[in-house]
Amino acid sequence: MKIVFATGNPHKVEEIQAILKGYELIGLADIGCHEDIPETNPTIKENALQKARYVVENYGVKNCFAEDTGLEIDALNGEPGVYSARYAGPEKDADANVHKVLAKLANYSDRSAQFRTVVALIIEGEEYTFEGIIRGTIQTEKSGSGGFGYDPVFLPEGETRNFAEMSADEKNKISHRAKAVLLLKSFLENR
Ligand code: IMP
Repeated sequence: MKIVFATGNPHKVEEIQAILKGYELIGLADIGCHEDIPETNPTIKENALQKARYVVENYGVKNCFAEDTGLEIDALNGEPGVYSARYAGPEKDADANVHKVLAKLANYSDRSAQFRTVVALIIEGEEYTFEGIIRGTIQTEKSGSGGFGYDPVFLPEGETRNFAEMSADEKNKISHRAKAVLLLKSFLENR
């Protein structure tokens, strides 16, 4: 079965294709979509749904899923959340975002946080969402050279290495995104 994954990020297609074996994932470039899909909602779930709906409505696609992810820090009332990509400004600079998080948390002892991913699926006109969460803590300084975004300061619960210190395979076994995509997979397999 072919299914469009509404992302312009080929790394994400590769990462999620490895989980969704048996399905042929089609990226946005493959359906001629080269625009930035709007993400203008105040929640991660609504943004994921917005992206999937946009592709279905504008590109004549039937089966499509999209995902949206945010880092939610307890002491900052869930910030940066839906604004994770542009926390430090519209340039979406990962280094600046991490720096801002570390600065904001400087005076807090509670450094607990979570990544939340919502996958939104539209299939045969019906909408479904699947959520993956991983709890952890924000470290006081960056380390590791893998991953992206906030990985160099996110230490998952029960682990001794942060996401940037793990291999891609190790991260993809436990991550928020993997959890949400596994729920999507079992839904597709059992329908
Ligand atoms: P997106 O929904 O994947 O575009 O993610 C929004 C922002 O959240 C990204 O720009 C990253 O800063 C951050 N982010 C998403 N997933 C991860 C992850 O797995 N590790 C670290 N940061 C992430």
